[in-house]
Formats: sequence, structure tokens, C-alpha cells
Amino acid sequence: MANVAVIGAQWGDEGKGKVVDWLASRAEIVVRFQGGHNAGHTLVVGDQTYKLSLLPSGVVRGKLGIIGNGVVLDPDALLAEIAKVGAQGLKVSPENLRIAENTPLILPVHPALDKAREAARGDAKIGTTGRGIGPAYEDKVGRRAIRLCDLAEPETLSAKLDQLLLHHNALLRGLGAPQFQKQPLLDALLALAPKLLPYSEAVWERLDEAHATNKRVLFEGAQAVMLDVDHGTYPYVTSSNTVAGNAAAGAGVAPNAIGMVLGIAKAYTTRVGSGPFPTELHDEIGQGLGARGREFGTVTGRPRRCGWFDACMVRQAVKVGGINGIALTKLDVLDGITELKICTGYSINGQVFKRLPAAAGAQAAAQPIYEVMEGWTQSTYGARSYAELPAAAVKYVRRIEELVEAPVVLLSTSPERDDTITLRDPFAG
Ligand code: GDP
Ligand code: IMO
Ligand code: MG
Repeated sequence: MANVAVIGAQWGDEGKGKVVDWLASRAEIVVRFQGGHNAGHTLVVGDQTYKLSLLPSGVVRGKLGIIGNGVVLDPDALLAEIAKVGAQGLKVSPENLRIAENTPLILPVHPALDKAREAARGDAKIGTTGRGIGPAYEDKVGRRAIRLCDLAEPETLSAKLDQLLLHHNALLRGLGAPQFQKQPLLDALLALAPKLLPYSEAVWERLDEAHATNKRVLFEGAQAVMLDVDHGTYPYVTSSNTVAGNAAAGAGVAPNAIGMVLGIAKAYTTRVGSGPFPTELHDEIGQGLGARGREFGTVTGRPRRCGWFDACMVRQAVKVGGINGIALTKLDVLDGITELKICTGYSINGQVFKRLPAAAGAQAAAQPIYEVMEGWTQSTYGARSYAELPAAAVKYVRRIEELVEAPVVLLSTSPERDDTITLRDPFAG
């Protein structure tokens, strides 16, 4: 089985969209299996830049896109994104996009609660994208969610909305935020039904058929292992499992249908939002990485925090995320830095750790232990073959492979689709 799952190996924005787009030329189906429109995946093809949040990145190559049940779907955001890419010349219709009928929906109550909670947390805020992702997943687990299939049953929908509002209005009241009336929400959902239901199907059947007929499927993760609700820097995480294992549950396929797991990692580290970040740089080197790497959030426009490559953390992501190979992106951003540092472990209250412990206090206290490497002055921007890279860059990549205990199989050297170096074919497993 030559399927590939692409997941983030750091705190997101590693370049998953670019890598999925690169691989999608040889896949037939691209599946999103978790997250929602908190994701922002950028694809650069010639003079066009596509910023996708919900649409699987394969739509740009004209491949069939599937939104799996593990996603939380904001109908308005989806329709707006379809219109946005439509204006860029991409036609998205039920012909090339299918959505799992059991996908939970994000309703206006969810961003309202997300924002009210963040405001109430003050300085302790998570720094969420404010898209309602956490509250929507809570409703799914709390068995209150409105799902896509409910739009076809007005009576079920009406009864479920009563349950949902009972819960949400109590919370919003407690937070001093405005409450929601049922009728406008019901009317809006009934108006959305004819636009959304044509996309709805039992996608597990289609994926089962794809499996049986050896069609290549690409699973496109959003966020990253260190934002995973179990394995990340909790509570400064998103509300879904971002590890490759969730591709199975989030799409309705067998675990052995996932195939090769490609972890995407930047050649340095970034993070947007609050939470621990042991290798964060507050100096001009960090500012330089942000400026050269254009590190501003795709979704919220917030500046991303920048720091050195954390091999200890990526090694952990490799282990818990099930990563078999790494795609290392943004190598070009390190051009011209004379001395590079790689974190190989942490010192926490006088003790050395080769992993990031789970306790929030220990994570906040983690001091990086660095190994220093020589940088390079030549440009790697746009390199398309390994032979074009300076010896110091090759050494840096090789050292990363050793430390994270996974081979680097792809290298990316610019935002542009074709500025990619393949060292080993991910579809070959
Ligand atoms: P994603 O969320 O993982 O898909 O990543 P984003 O799209 O949010 O952020 C990655 C950013 O880096 C985007 O602006 C990409 O166009 C850009 N990018 C991807 N790969 C490279 C690369 O190798 N070099 C440079 N300079 N930029 C890259
Ligand atoms: P992609 O797919 C980077 C971060 C938010 C916040 C935390 C929780 O583009 O890599 P949420 O809105 O999910 O409840 O926010 O997670 N976050 C991301 N950071 N890339 C993303 O997606 C992210 N999606 C969420 O900044 O810290
Ligand atoms: Mg992003």
C-alpha cells in the first residue's frame, strides 16, 4: 500500500501544504482527517498563492478532496473558501470534494465561546485562532454536536439545537457573553442544507473502494504533534489528535491503510500562540529568522515566535507521531547564519532530560542543551538537487537525521512548488 500521511512534527506551519501539493501530483485522493479552519496551508504555484484552511491541498492539482469525520467543519468558512479559490480559477464542487456525513459542524456559538473563554483567561490564554475549534470538539465528545447529516433531518436538527443551546447559553451566561436564540440558528442551518448536503456521503465507503483498487491516497494533517491534545504541550495545544494514528479514525480507514508517515519539520522552529518553547530566540537572530522566513500566521496574521531547531522535540514527535521520514523545509532561511545551534536535550531544575516531560511546570522550566554547528554563506534558495547544497548544509541535514532518528527524505528550499529535493520516494514506503 503506497499511501502517505503528512503530519507536522513541530508546532505547525512547517510547510505541510507545500509538501502535500508536491506529493499530490502522484496521488488520486487527498484527505483531511482532523482540525478545521484553524489550519492555514500555503501553496505557491508560479505567480499564484493559495491559502487553504479546510480544502485538502490536492484540489489545486485537480485531485479528489475528502474532508473526513475527524475534521470540525464551519459551513460558512467552507463556502467562503470555495468562493475564494473559485476567484483564483479553481472550481470546487461535489464532483471533486466529498465530506463525511458524520462530520461535526462549527456553529456561531463555538467561536463566541472560544473568544469569551480566551478573554476570561487573561494572561493565561492559550492564544487560540478564535475559530471555535476547541468548543466544537468538546461538543462532539459531549455527544451534543450537530453533524452534517443532521441538516437532512429538520426535526432531529431542531431537537439537537435545543440540547446544544441549553449547554452553551449556560456557559455564555456564566462568562457574561451574549446568549444565542434558537430560531435564527435553525433558519441559517436549514438555508445552508441545500448548499452543503450535495457534498455529504459515507466517505469511508469511497476510501474502502480506493483501498481495494490500490488508488493512492494522501492524508493531509493539520497542526502538528506538539499541538496534539494528548502528546503536545498541554494545555497549549489544539483540541484534536494530530498524530498519524488519527488519520485512521478521522477518515474511517484501517490503521494499515495509512502507509508511510512523513513528518514535516522546518530547519528551525516556530510557534504561534502561547505556551512553552525552549529554543525560542528573543534576539536579532530570532528576528532575522522571522523576517527571512516571513513568519506571520496564515490564519490570524500574528507574528510567529522563532527559535533554533529542537531535535529533542522532533525526535519525540517522530516516536509518538509514528513518523518514518522527515521533509525538512525552509533550509534557505538559515542561509548566511555563521553558527547554528541544535537542541539535543533539556536541563530542567538541574536534571538532564532527553524528552520534554508532560508536566506544565517542567516544560516551562526546560532550558535547551545545544550542540553548535557551522553555518553556510552561500544561497540554498531554490536549490533543486542535493549537489547544489553547500557542504555545511548537507552536514546540518545529516546531523538532524541522526538526532531525530528518522531519515530526511525531502528537502524544501523555497515556497515554490518545484523547489523541492527528493532524496527518497515517500510513496515507495
Ligand atoms: P503549513 O501550515 O504547514 O502548511 O505551513 P504554512 O503554509 O502555514 O507556512 C509555511 C510558510 O512557509 C508558507 O508561507 C510557505 O509558502 C513557506 N514555505 C514552505 N516551504 C518553504 C521553504 O522551503 N522555504 C521558504 N523560504 N518558505 C517556505
Ligand atoms: P497549520 O495546519 C500553527 C495553534 C494556535 C494556538 C493553539 C490552539 O497551519 O499548521 P486552536 O484555534 O486550534 O484552538 O488554537 O494551536 N494552532 C496552530 N499553530 N499552525 C496551525 O495550523 C495551528 N492551528 C492551531 O495558534 O496556539
Ligand atoms: Mg499553517
